[in-house]
Amino acid sequence: MSQTIPTAPETKRGVGSRKPPGPRSLSPLGSAPAIARDTQRFALEMWQHYGDVVRFRLLFWPAYALYHPDHLKYVLQDNHRNYDKQFPMMKTVRPLFGNGLFTNDGASWLHQRRLMQPSFHHKRLAGFATLMTEATLAMLERWQGADAQHVDIPLEMMRLTQRIVGLALFNLDLSNEMDTVGRTFMMLLPLLSKYTFVPFPPLWFPTPRNRRLQAGLETLNTVVYGLITERRKRGTDPGMETGDLLAMLLAARDEETGEGMSDQQVRDEVITLLLAGYETTSLALTWTWYLLSQHPEVEQRLHAELETVLSGQTPTVDHLNDLPYTRMVIQETLRLYPPAFGLTRHTIADDEIGGYPVPTHSIIFLTPYYTHRHPTFWEDPERFDPERFTPERSVGRPRFAYAPFGGGPRQCIGNAFAMMEAQLVVATVAQRYHLRMVPEHPVEPQVLFTVRPRYGLPMTLHPR
Ligand code: HEM
Repeated sequence: MSQTIPTAPETKRGVGSRKPPGPRSLSPLGSAPAIARDTQRFALEMWQHYGDVVRFRLLFWPAYALYHPDHLKYVLQDNHRNYDKQFPMMKTVRPLFGNGLFTNDGASWLHQRRLMQPSFHHKRLAGFATLMTEATLAMLERWQGADAQHVDIPLEMMRLTQRIVGLALFNLDLSNEMDTVGRTFMMLLPLLSKYTFVPFPPLWFPTPRNRRLQAGLETLNTVVYGLITERRKRGTDPGMETGDLLAMLLAARDEETGEGMSDQQVRDEVITLLLAGYETTSLALTWTWYLLSQHPEVEQRLHAELETVLSGQTPTVDHLNDLPYTRMVIQETLRLYPPAFGLTRHTIADDEIGGYPVPTHSIIFLTPYYTHRHPTFWEDPERFDPERFTPERSVGRPRFAYAPFGGGPRQCIGNAFAMMEAQLVVATVAQRYHLRMVPEHPVEPQVLFTVRPRYGLPMTLHPR
């Protein structure tokens, strides 16, 4: 797989003029069709041609693509109060996420975030480790007898991470429902991804695409409202209290009004957590297997660490600190293939970034995928080199040169959950198998909100 990277983006070009450089489009849609056609290519071309701050137009709105870590830091952290998620394209994903944590803003977001944060506390997370390895061992049992046969890795990783998130957050083995939920998400994401930048015809208009979208949403709603109704019923039975995130959402009361959360709000949080909780992690794992298969020297070091620390045992939460190389392999995978390709914001008031004025109602695109390849901060950026993340080599690297989980107050709530899960899954599977690519199978990243292998990733299993 090859990728052209700018040798040295010109960070200074255009400074002094009022507007940063960028393409001039005569189309009334501005750059929207180019983004909808190929988001990744658009983001790369903008960076290569114009540098670290690029201005373009998206329909009626001025838009800015920012690639420099300082600018990510500014938008996500230093001046985060001036940046919300009320950009026009967000409306198109509302039917899916509603007002869940990912799409919410302002006081309502803060209220919900504070409510959910304790469920992601590290003490709480430690309790999920066994469930994570047990689900992985169950997958390995299913794999037995499939040696050297093709395994659909993205599908296997998706099933596994779905099962884990369902059990951990909602105390539910959603294996059956999750097949339905997973398939529906997989169908909805590409449809919504295209619709986000070219929202015509509107959703209510009965085109074949819109009918499929509506049918998918209905399927999800049926499953999730079913869960809520069932749990509300069970919740009235003392002794059935499970103490998981769903129970907590249902029990939450507003401090001032004493009112509980509406079913609609609970539905929005559940759908958000289900999708955010498995899709990204399954892609992180998928890309890890791919990169390991391409770098036998890294794989060997990983195996050596696993043998020394675990000697064939199933990893537990207590082993995690003793598996630093495993962790670095995952960190480096998230650098090259950050599952969340980009982050988007809207400016509440006029601002200035990198010396350029940025007006109210601008749309801001941050692209960790390319910031992670910024040659000023990453030597030989395309090379897979887990040891970039040793403490010695990390000295002096700005925090926002690496942002697979975003940053600032809206940093991913599932960050530690995902890292623990990935470390446990990789350690458990890699002790048993080498995974190898099917020869000649093309591998190319495709951006549909997240970064996935465009042609799938069939691999063969080889017992160690
Ligand atoms: C490797 C795995 C993961 C990656 C790369 C990832 C990435 C991200 C990123 C970049 C954001 C920030 C989006 C923004 O600022 O616009 C985010 C937010 C979020 N993530 Fe994750 N995530 C992962 C796993 C998880 C897991 C396991 C969960 C839940 C169990 C989760 C739940 C969320 C939620 C709810 C938000 C919204 C937080 C807020 O705005 O307060 N994520 N994630």
